[in-house]
Amino acid sequence: MKITVLSLFPEILQAYLSASIMKRAMAKGLVSCELVNIRDYAYDRHRKCDDEIFGGGAGMLLKPEPVDRALEAAGSPAVRTIFVTPSGRLFNQAMAADFAKEEQLVILCGRYEGIDQRIIDTRVTDCVSIGDYVLSSGEVAAMVVIDAVYRLIPGVISGESLSEESFASGLLEYPQYTRPAEYATMHVPEVLLSGNHAQIAQWRLRASLIRTLAYRPELLQTIDLTGPLGRLLKEVIGEGGENEPRTTDSGRTDEN
Ligand code: 6GU
Repeated sequence: MKITVLSLFPEILQAYLSASIMKRAMAKGLVSCELVNIRDYAYDRHRKCDDEIFGGGAGMLLKPEPVDRALEAAGSPAVRTIFVTPSGRLFNQAMAADFAKEEQLVILCGRYEGIDQRIIDTRVTDCVSIGDYVLSSGEVAAMVVIDAVYRLIPGVISGESLSEESFASGLLEYPQYTRPAEYATMHVPEVLLSGNHAQIAQWRLRASLIRTLAYRPELLQTIDLTGPLGRLLKEVIGEGGENEPRTTDSGRTDEN
């Protein structure tokens, strides 16, 4: 996959691209990433990229011309073009999987109050927000989208790691432990040491349900309550599963 990122501050992304798994994926030839400075497409003497907003209001907007030219050079809108903006559709794992199927992606980072709507209408295919909060930098959101997408490209990380993680099943991931089996008087749940794979799978599913019920109950709304998972969920609710047991969390309590 080739990813082209358009930004006024491409150096923000540079460090991320040269780190860890992303670097390896690029070295393997699975992903390439080009950083484009939108200012290189501003042709006036001061290479001005922003301007005041028609109708009034605080802040500045990216001017259409430089963004339009930079997007055209990147292949938009024939290439899937994502504009990261708090006014976009909420990003999730299904969208990441959809983007991961593309041969090529363009990601446009806004600055100031955003970009001129005419550019969104003519060159952008997807407006994406990463959550219900405001970031000062679209570059941070672009890194989030890139990270969620490239790791789903076959060969970047193992399929097994992918299938077990949070959201792959529609539930949050179960708690996990490593050695030592007893640490500061806290014990790893006995079943995980038993070697009984069926019982371990059942414990993990139950723990996933408890955690999802505690932190993200809305994710459970699509579960068929008459199926086996639904029966387990009813059992967990019956046991007061709205509060995740503290020992399966970081160890912190609300008091500290
Ligand atoms: Cl995509 N950009 C900015 N600036 N803030 C955000 C966001 C994006 N998603 C949530 N907050």
